Amino acid sequence: MGRERVAAPRPTAGTQDWYAHAFQCAVLEVHQKRYRTVRAARPIVLEVGLRSLLVPNVNPAHMTLAEHNLAYRRPDLYDALNRDSAAAVTCRQLVDEYGVLPLGSVLDLGCGTARDLAEFSDAHDCVGVDIQPALIEHARQQHPGLDLRVGDLRTVRLGRTFDTIFCLGNSLAYLHHNEDIRAAFATFAVHAHPGSLLIVVTQIAPTSTAAPTRGRVDAADIHADVIIEHSWDARVQVATLHRTWQFDNGATERDRIRRRVLSPRELELYATLAGFRPVALFTDPQDRTGPLTGSTAWFVARYDPAP
Ligand SMILES: C[S@@+](CC[C@H](N)C(=O)[O-])C[C@H]1O[C@@H](n2cnc3c(N)ncnc32)[C@H](O)[C@@H]1O
Repeated sequence: MGRERVAAPRPTAGTQDWYAHAFQCAVLEVHQKRYRTVRAARPIVLEVGLRSLLVPNVNPAHMTLAEHNLAYRRPDLYDALNRDSAAAVTCRQLVDEYGVLPLGSVLDLGCGTARDLAEFSDAHDCVGVDIQPALIEHARQQHPGLDLRVGDLRTVRLGRTFDTIFCLGNSLAYLHHNEDIRAAFATFAVHAHPGSLLIVVTQIAPTSTAAPTRGRVDAADIHADVIIEHSWDARVQVATLHRTWQFDNGATERDRIRRRVLSPRELELYATLAGFRPVALFTDPQDRTGPLTGSTAWFVARYDPAP
């Protein structure tokens, strides 16, 4: 009787490590839907309800994100950590320069706590979408005037188009697989009309800092020393930020934030295939045509589909 090895179903964003761990811990083989011990020296053959063990819904992407990031479990901390962000200022300059004026409608995909979207409340309508219900709930309380929805930027369909589409703060980088990135660009395209401006902020190179960096957080009732380290898996182009929180009360927590790195040429390709024409790429908002010096870039494109 033939024995069949079963590949894991393709994981959702952020769950790959869990699958890899599961596979390292057990050799799972399905054999005629029966438990069977082969011989002492051979692996034990288990009938395991693989689907029920590994189905993505057991641990949806948004739960995995929060599981590995304290700031997602504490949206007030997320806001406090990002209070000094100047992203909205740069977005405004880009819209003024390349976008549709007067400012019409704005869609922010992966909006988090909607900090940036809130700066565009002069647009006649602003819609934010994020996969994490807790962040959307927090954002609704902070910004009751905004239209905020729980959704996945790979699949959400709002049935309308927008003048400006944001995907800021590395939201795109949480999609690790090529087909997910392609799906995200398809989402950008179905919510765009000719001339719509797309602004993406995402990681374009692995973070090169070798030594751990240390910092201090005293915000949102969190008092901790924070140590940040980086690792890089070139095979799958995923950069991982390892963040250790050493709280003043002696407790410790560890975050692990995995981001897909998209080279500038990849960004250009995904955008072009989806009908967007790239108009700018820079790492320093003060020097938009200079060399790319950081690991995170601004990518700006206009929707210009082939007739
Ligand atoms: C680093 S935060 C950035 C949030 C916000 N854009 C900002 O700049 O503050 C990344 C966000 O992407 C969201 N995200 C990750 N995967 C997503 C997906 N598939 N669909 C929608 N949002 C997603 C996360 O929930 C998180 O809020």
